[in-house]
Amino acid sequence: AETRRCLVEERVRAFPDFPVPGVLFRDITPLLKDPIAFGAAIDLLEAHLKTSYPQIDCIAGLDARGFLFGPVLAQRLGIGFVLIRKKGKLPGLTESVSYALEYGQAELEIQSDAVEPGQKVVLLDDLLATGGTMSAACELMKKLKAEVLECLVLIELKSLKGAEKLKPFSIYSLLQYD
Ligand code: PRP
Ligand code: HPA
Repeated sequence: AETRRCLVEERVRAFPDFPVPGVLFRDITPLLKDPIAFGAAIDLLEAHLKTSYPQIDCIAGLDARGFLFGPVLAQRLGIGFVLIRKKGKLPGLTESVSYALEYGQAELEIQSDAVEPGQKVVLLDDLLATGGTMSAACELMKKLKAEVLECLVLIELKSLKGAEKLKPFSIYSLLQYD
């Protein structure tokens, strides 16, 4: 597992002052370009979910980078994948929640029939920064009366204290940075 974690870590780049001054942007594009490292990331996430949450019903991925990992992971687990999108992209009946970003303001939306009441859902994104996005996703799950088993990310930016914002929901990350 440690070998796999290193493969993943080697494929995350850091860009200072993007998209605004003061933000050190963790870039996962090299990970996606490297099938070995990408496979290692999916292996680790799969093993974690199989061990910790065998009762999982579906994965809900966050727009946009949660979409890069979610469907692959859901296929591995033999479960469904649902979309949590930026507002205005989903047809039909929806629920929405607005939130503050590390850089900006936005609104997340889900289709009202995406998950059934009582379903056990894992929320997935590439990265946890302030936790604003993930908290909004938790709110959406609450509106649909689904149960959040866990918030799952590849990368957690510890210094931004997203985990505290998410309480009482639990966060699991493959990589942590200050
Ligand atoms: C990034 C990242 C997370 C979120 C984390 O997405 O992919 O979704 O920010 O930040 P937070 O913990 O402070 O809320 P972004 O909003 O930049 O949008 P994108 O996925 O469309 O690029
Ligand atoms: N990297 C990628 N996405 C992000 C970051 C970051 O450092 N902060 C907020 N979203």
